[in-house]
Amino acid sequence: MYIKAKKSLGQNFLIDRVVLEKITSITNITGKEVLEVGPGSGNLTTYILKQKPNKLYVIEKDDDLAIVLKEKFDNAIEIINNDILKISEDKISNQKLSVFGNLPYNISTEILSKWILNIGSNFWFESLVLMFQKEVADRIISEFNNSNYGRLSILSSWKLNVKKEKLKRIVSQWMTEQGDPGIRLDTVEAFDAAKKGIHLF
Ligand SMILES: C[S@@+](CC[C@H](N)C(=O)[O-])C[C@H]1O[C@@H](n2cnc3c(N)ncnc32)[C@H](O)[C@@H]1O
Repeated sequence: MYIKAKKSLGQNFLIDRVVLEKITSITNITGKEVLEVGPGSGNLTTYILKQKPNKLYVIEKDDDLAIVLKEKFDNAIEIINNDILKISEDKISNQKLSVFGNLPYNISTEILSKWILNIGSNFWFESLVLMFQKEVADRIISEFNNSNYGRLSILSSWKLNVKKEKLKRIVSQWMTEQGDPGIRLDTVEAFDAAKKGIHLF
């Protein structure tokens, strides 16, 4: 299936099996409720389902990809065809969610900031396993006195424990807006973040 990546929606697709397995084994999701942000064509989704979650919600803004996902997974997932920035995540389920996302790079910091700033006394998520571009990742985990230290580092350490999971071999399939297929070697890093005091793995 040929899917043209849309730059305007920050799309790039993970295709490396080793990376997909690594991401979905970072935290135990068997029997849990899971949310995937931006499932795209469903590569990460397939690997999440292999871990046998109790329920998998996905939020995808791209109408075309929402149709692809429906054809591919049918009732195995619940597709929310909407914009993550407009969703009230705490209304998705009455259970705490384990969240995964190879986030759209153009709004990844906006998504993370929204989640952190909206955290009230109750967390709607149990864990976050997220992928960012390297420069964003460096800002998230940066400590005081480091040149990358700033608003994002302060926000992240305020509410979350952040653990860096370096993915050694990241290959994401990348197609330009013109539709030229190609392979992009990326330095995306995955992060597992959770409520202060909760031990994850
Ligand atoms: C970097 S791609 C990841 C695709 C797939 N998860 C993968 O790893 O192969 C980001 C995905 O987020 C979707 N997306 C972009 N903006 C979004 C938004 N505001 N709300 C929900 N999904 C969005 C894109 O359409 C795309 O499918």
